Amino acid sequence: MSSSSTAAVFPACTIRGLVRIPGDKSISHRYAMLAAIAEGVSRFHNFSAAQDCYSTLGCMRALGSEWAKREDGAIEVHGMGPNLKTPNQPLDCGNSGSTIRMLSGILAGQPFTTELFGDESLSRRPMARIMQPLSHMGAKIEAREGGRPPLKIHGGALKPIQYKPEVASAQVKTCVLFAGLFADGETSVEEPVRTRDHGELSLRAFGAQVERNGNATRIRGGQKLRAIEAHVPGDLSSAAFFLCAAALFPGSQLTLPGILMNPTRARLLDILIQMGLKVSVAQLEEHHGELIGAIEARGAAWKGGSISGADTAALIDEIPVLAATAPYTENGLEVRDAKELRVKESDRIASVATNLRKMGAEVEERPDGLRIPGRQRLHGAELDSFGDHRIAMAFAIAALRAAGETVIQGADAAGVSYPNFFEDLKAIAN
Ligand code: S3P
Repeated sequence: MSSSSTAAVFPACTIRGLVRIPGDKSISHRYAMLAAIAEGVSRFHNFSAAQDCYSTLGCMRALGSEWAKREDGAIEVHGMGPNLKTPNQPLDCGNSGSTIRMLSGILAGQPFTTELFGDESLSRRPMARIMQPLSHMGAKIEAREGGRPPLKIHGGALKPIQYKPEVASAQVKTCVLFAGLFADGETSVEEPVRTRDHGELSLRAFGAQVERNGNATRIRGGQKLRAIEAHVPGDLSSAAFFLCAAALFPGSQLTLPGILMNPTRARLLDILIQMGLKVSVAQLEEHHGELIGAIEARGAAWKGGSISGADTAALIDEIPVLAATAPYTENGLEVRDAKELRVKESDRIASVATNLRKMGAEVEERPDGLRIPGRQRLHGAELDSFGDHRIAMAFAIAALRAAGETVIQGADAAGVSYPNFFEDLKAIAN
């Protein structure tokens, strides 16, 4: 990288080597939040390096839960039990939708008022999806027009609800389940399609009983949480960038030890295999209900395919890199049912289409997806991250097969989920 916010990426010939991927962001957020309301001191090994997770830790400290990084790198969080401390100032959620949405569930059950705010991107993101169920439970929530942050949450006694969200969102599900811990009775969430289940698994890890029946999950209020010691698996959504890089070059070889294999996230591996990447997984283990395995990937033909329906929800964070590398596939890629991508850290459908066109690609942008023909030749270009970590990283991967240099403005956005991304990429791209 030539400056803190600009990255130059040059074409590569192959991908070879081993990358130790930092801990999963989704799990780290949940562990940090639940550790704060548990009894005792929790310890997390391989906790995410993401700035987003440090936003969560910052909020938890402002709510009275002290934490520290030990010499061995583990994060130790001192639990407060269910009653957090009234913060002295508004809580800064940075760029993190997970922080503001999931933490709101816990704050709805606290007998005080909290303000939550974030950066420019977070201030544009929709919060009605959590305000609605939390209001039904009895919390009073104020937001900017259109249900945008900052949020002011007046928490207190909550009543249980049976909630059927319209949008498939693990953040919403987790928010309501966290609030359910503070409700007087049993709360349930029935999702339109099954989303990642780290909320359920982490609640269980901390000792809560959580029942699942099909797409419905139930939790009883008033359960006490106990501190845990846990190892956070490597983030599969971060691994996705390097897996797509390997897919671009027949003959490439990549080893990723200790990666999250949770079935609600691992659909990515099926799709990559269908698209032509050779993948094998070894050394499967389970930690607090989360599966972990070592991935070996080899590049072969890169065929392309289509993603729609429940697959779109399961791959929502990986679609940017799949789409950015789609012009190099044999048959192209079609993405449907993805209008949620428009309300992520950036409008990811527009961000992908804009950058691909700057690289000379043909791409059809649709209201809820993209169609990208295959067998295209791209050239290096000056691109924008749009302040979005996954766009910065997706286009660093696309640049590996383009002709000439690509410059990514705002590349430091990668730190939101993967601070060492560009160094790790450099080590395996030859
Ligand atoms: C996440 C859920 C997804 C995902 C986000 C992390 C989570 O968001 O895009 O990066 O940890 O629950 P939605 O719940 O908005 O789909």
